[in-house]
Amino acid sequence: MSDDSRPSPTEPRTAAVIPAAGRGVRLGPGAPKALRALGGTPMLVHAVRAMAASRAVSLVVVVAPPDGASEVKSLLDAHALPERTDFLVVPGGDSRQESVRLGLDALPPDYDIVLVHDAARPLVPVDTVDAVIEAVRAGAPAVVPALPLADTVKEVGPAEPGEPEPVVATPSRARLRAVQTPQGFDRATLVRAHEEVTEDVTDDASMVERLGLGVVVVPGHEEAFKVTRPLDLVLAEAVLARRRLNDGFF
Ligand code: C5P
Repeated sequence: MSDDSRPSPTEPRTAAVIPAAGRGVRLGPGAPKALRALGGTPMLVHAVRAMAASRAVSLVVVVAPPDGASEVKSLLDAHALPERTDFLVVPGGDSRQESVRLGLDALPPDYDIVLVHDAARPLVPVDTVDAVIEAVRAGAPAVVPALPLADTVKEVGPAEPGEPEPVVATPSRARLRAVQTPQGFDRATLVRAHEEVTEDVTDDASMVERLGLGVVVVPGHEEAFKVTRPLDLVLAEAVLARRRLNDGFF
């Protein structure tokens, strides 16, 4: 992929869908999570810029809270975004899955590769975005960026009232990965997954797994963490401060 121009007309076109319709209750009271400020700029704007930073991405579709599409449009208009990228804002749904499907419905026909990126991962580096796109271009129907785990993970069973949860299994940590976004897809595969898979899922790639198709992993990045709890905001501010010091990027 070229570093200094739009993708050539022969390259598959890539769009990014950003579900940003969640309330973010785990972060505590306040504005919807995607609209919280990081370094003075809303988290969603960071996430949009992170997708548009890839030269391969020529359209970003933001899925806004159902009653907040015009607010999100004004927000994007008020912040500098790359001119070579197009932006669309559509209202979201009750679940993340529905919000992603509404974003997919809004895609023009001439996009063959779709990234799905959580607004709650504002700091993903462009190299991670490009690695995901490259792997889809190389033929994978679905690609996830992921990292090995530091913690051991235990599966627990239901607890009796007032009793501690019993551990039922300890999967081998060496074979586990913590999965991030953007996840990348062959568009037709992701659309089919959203048509055929109705179970609740927490990421898009697992819908493709349920179709019986292969999903592959590329290296994720520690700065692609999800801002979920109050401490994550502290970490995100620290990452931004370090970037500003190192290279003036923010
Ligand atoms: O809740 P969770 O942290 O998994 O949300 C991941 C992403 O999905 C967030 O960016 C959130 O805004 C989005 N989401 C959505 N529509 C919903 C629920 C969550 O777009 N109804």
